[in-house]
Amino acid sequence: MSFPGAIARAAALIEARLDAALAPLADEPVIHAMRYAVAGGKRLRGFLVLESAAMLGVPPARAISAAAAVECLHAYSLVHDDMPCMDDDDLRRGHPTVHVKWDEATAVLAGDALQTLAFELLCDPALGSGDTRIALVRGLAVASGAEGMVLGQALDIAAETAATPLTLDQIKRLQAGKTGALIRWSAEAGAVIAGADPAPLCAYATALGLAFQIADDILDEVGDAALAGKRLHKDAQAGKATFVSLLGLDGARAQAKALVDEAERHLAPYGAKAETLIDTARFVIAREH
Ligand code: IPE
Ligand code: IPE
Ligand code: MG
Ligand code: MG
Ligand code: MG
Repeated sequence: MSFPGAIARAAALIEARLDAALAPLADEPVIHAMRYAVAGGKRLRGFLVLESAAMLGVPPARAISAAAAVECLHAYSLVHDDMPCMDDDDLRRGHPTVHVKWDEATAVLAGDALQTLAFELLCDPALGSGDTRIALVRGLAVASGAEGMVLGQALDIAAETAATPLTLDQIKRLQAGKTGALIRWSAEAGAVIAGADPAPLCAYATALGLAFQIADDILDEVGDAALAGKRLHKDAQAGKATFVSLLGLDGARAQAKALVDEAERHLAPYGAKAETLIDTARFVIAREH
C-alpha cells in the first residue's frame, strides 16, 4: 500500500477507536472540547504505533488502543501548548484553539481529561498481558512527564526569556523531551506489544523525532499557514532559538535529511518489512503541515 493510503487507513482506525472511547461520555462542554481537540491532525504518532506493531506481526486490532492513547496524550499537549500562558495561539489544525472556542478553564480540564483517557486506553486487555500493559503505561508516563514532554515544554518556555540563546546541544535536549519522547514511545510501543527487542525502533525514532522537530521549525519559518492550519513565524517573533535560527535554513534541511538517512539505517535488521517506516521518515521532512 502507498504511504498516503497507509496513513489514511490508520487514521480512520484511530478515529473509530477515539469515537468509541468518547461517544459514551457525558454531554458536557468539557467532553465536547475533548472530542474537538483530539479531532484532525496527521496521526503520525498513532501511525507509528500501528506500523511498528504491524512490522513485528501484530495486527492493528491488537495495537489500536495504544495508537489512540498517544493521540490523546499529544492532543492534550497541544491544547495546553496553545494557551495564553504558553504559546498563546488562536488556531490549531485549521480551527480556533480550545481556550478561544470555549475558555481557559475548559482548555485546562479538557487537556487533563485527555491525558488521563490516554492511560485508561492503555489498560485495554487487547494490548496484551498485565506486564505488557504496565510497560506501556510506565513508558508513556515517563515520556510525557518530568523528564519527557513536560520537561521539553518547560525548557522551551524558559528559553524565551533566557539571557543568552540556547546552544545546539541545549536545543537537542529540549527537543528530545518536547517532541522526541512521544515519538519514541510510539515507535517502541509496537515492539512492547509484540514482545520484541525495542532497541532498533528506539534508535530509529530518536533520529526521526529530531528530524520531525527540525521540520516543524522549518515550517514555522517558511511554511504555508493555510496548509499548516496554525500560526507561523511564532518562533522568530518569540525570539526562540530553534534549529533554523542556529543552523540556518539550508543547514537545518541538511541536518534533517542526514537524520532521516540515519533513521533508515537503524531499520536495516527488518529488511523489506520496514518499508513503510522508512517512507514515514521521508514524509516527516517532506511534509507541508
Ligand atoms: C505539532 O505536532 C506539535 C509538535 C509536537 C511540534 P504535529 O505536527 O504532529 O501535529 P498534528 O497532530 O499533525 O496536528
Ligand atoms: C509543541 O511544540 C510541542 C508540544 C505540544 C509538546 P510547538 O509549540 O513548536 O508546536 P506548534 O508549532 O505550536 O505546533
Ligand atoms: Mg510550544
Ligand atoms: Mg506551539
Ligand atoms: Mg513549532
